[in-house]
Amino acid sequence: MSAEKQAAATNSYQVITLTSGKGGVGKSTLCVGLGLGDALRGKRVLLIEFDAGLRGLDLMLGISDRVVYDLGDLLEGRCTISKAIAESPLNENLNAIVAPVSLEAPMDLADIRLLVEGLRPHFDRLILDMPAGLGFSVKATAATADLALIVTTPDRICVRDGGQMARALQKNGFESHRLLINRVDERMIRRDSITDLDAVIDGVGSQLIGVMPDDPDIQLKLTRGIALRESHRVTRICRALSQRLDGIYVPLIFS
Ligand SMILES: Nc1ncnc2c1ncn2[C@@H]1O[C@H](COP(=O)(O)OP(=O)(O)O)[C@@H](O)[C@H]1O
Ligand SMILES: [Mg+2]
Repeated sequence: MSAEKQAAATNSYQVITLTSGKGGVGKSTLCVGLGLGDALRGKRVLLIEFDAGLRGLDLMLGISDRVVYDLGDLLEGRCTISKAIAESPLNENLNAIVAPVSLEAPMDLADIRLLVEGLRPHFDRLILDMPAGLGFSVKATAATADLALIVTTPDRICVRDGGQMARALQKNGFESHRLLINRVDERMIRRDSITDLDAVIDGVGSQLIGVMPDDPDIQLKLTRGIALRESHRVTRICRALSQRLDGIYVPLIFS
């Protein structure tokens, strides 16, 4: 049985990629959020950032002063796996390998697959933060992941791109994807406007797994490596997302 089918059968997804057609929709932010949600539930988590040249996880995880080696050093044989992994001060269960500042050659899919397979026994969850676009991220997802989270905002152009992502994954034989809608407006939530969210779900053609409101604390704290309280709605939403990914039924939380 393939890793993807096995994960679906047990309802637990160990290797997850965050993907989107457009950049700036919140993949890296939600990667950190889900990682924290997992870590708070006691899971040992590793985030791997693939956005070569556009490193950001070091700042979000508060590890810029700890990072010596990156994914490029690891793939190009300049360091061991343990040297490339940095632990985040946000939570002892939360670790990361950050993106290369520059790369000598494009990342090789076979190398990435080997790396991810080698890491599976050592972590409860591997969360791969992909670059935007339908090229590398689709191929890397098909090569490594149990599940792809398609991240979109309610913006119509983003929704269309999310739909393209779902179709590109399917064309590559990868059917295991869920939709994560980010930056949902307070008013949409207060109106309990499920029809607006329905339009997004229909537009992307992927089953909904989570909704994250637009929240100022994400930019003020989460993206600056500052911990949010466990009672903060963003933390509670991330924890609920972690649970749903493990097949535990929890209702969608909005506030
Ligand atoms: N739910 C949210 N509420 C407020 N700001 C957000 C939210 N999600 C993401 N952002 C902000 O949007 C910007 C882009 O997010 P990022 O995670 O870097 O996107 P991507 O990785 O998809 O390019 C960041 O400044 C981030 O703080
Ligand atoms: Mg990013």
